[in-house]
Amino acid sequence: MNDPFFSGKTAVITGAGGTLCSAIARHLAAQGTRVALLGRTPASLEQVAADIRSAGGTALTVACDVTDPASVERARAAVVAEFGVPWFLINGAGGNQTEAITTSVQFDPAEIADDKPAGLRGFFNLDPEKVDDVIRTNTLGTIIPSQVFGRDMAAQHRGSILTFGSMTSYRPITRVPAYATAKTGMVSFTAWLAAYLAPAGIRVNGVAPGFFVNDRSRKILMNPDGSLSTRGQNVIHHTPLRRFGEAEELLGTVTWLLHDDQAKFVTGIMVPVDGGFLACPGV
Ligand SMILES: NC(=O)c1ccc[n+]([C@@H]2O[C@H](COP(=O)([O-])OP(=O)(O)OC[C@H]3O[C@@H](n4cnc5c(N)ncnc54)[C@H](OP(=O)(O)O)[C@@H]3O)[C@@H](O)[C@H]2O)c1
Repeated sequence: MNDPFFSGKTAVITGAGGTLCSAIARHLAAQGTRVALLGRTPASLEQVAADIRSAGGTALTVACDVTDPASVERARAAVVAEFGVPWFLINGAGGNQTEAITTSVQFDPAEIADDKPAGLRGFFNLDPEKVDDVIRTNTLGTIIPSQVFGRDMAAQHRGSILTFGSMTSYRPITRVPAYATAKTGMVSFTAWLAAYLAPAGIRVNGVAPGFFVNDRSRKILMNPDGSLSTRGQNVIHHTPLRRFGEAEELLGTVTWLLHDDQAKFVTGIMVPVDGGFLACPGV
């Protein structure tokens, strides 16, 4: 169902080549929103843009590293020149990386032994640079675009910013210390920025997806033969709806939060879309 509110407005979507934000981009474009697709890999952005254009939508791709202020400023110039000042900023760029994930769920004495097994990566073996990469991508990677695009939106006194949390925003999920640190920070930043930007006419809200399979999480949640890994089974056991989410299942929440009429009095919240994961201790 097309909603005229979204028609003719501009959305900047970071991480638009990824699993969740490519679906958000396609959906907004189908409502008539002009979508600027930002990410580091032009080929994945182009693929999303091609889908959108072949469905009659309008899309621009801009290669951009959201952790680099100069790169985001260049993206801003390209977007404003082509589409004008955005109405929506969707901060989807984020994620984790293997080297910042421990292989064990709890301390293992072998991780501090002189003859530590090569495949073991405990907390004491994490490379602080990898930890920093993950924290930067998931925190500064939202803060910088919010400054760069938010400034123009504030000057026009309208618009909406979306952030991304995670289930680990609420209670730390095992093995992901850097990602947990960053995504917990996103709950706080979302509320902080909402309070700060209220006088600028900008609402700021977030979505906290439960477990949606993407290229990276597939390797953790599933075995090579497609069956569930032990971790995947644990997730399903703690998810009352007993399955992973589909990207399309975020769209209702995202469009509600972005919508200035439907969510006019809603700002500073993070909405879980999780199949009940947060409601279920699993025992
Ligand atoms: N999938 C889930 O189950 C899940 C659950 C909770 C939260 N989330 C969050 O939801 C958001 C989207 O997740 P997703 O599943 O769609 O992940 P995804 O498929 O890995 O997409 C993330 C996108 O972010 C881009 N990106 C990463 N670092 C970037 C950087 N420095 N500059 C610009 N772009 C960058 C990546 O593209 P390039 O590498 O080409 O730049 C990638 O296309 C993320 O914030 C993620 O943490 C996802």
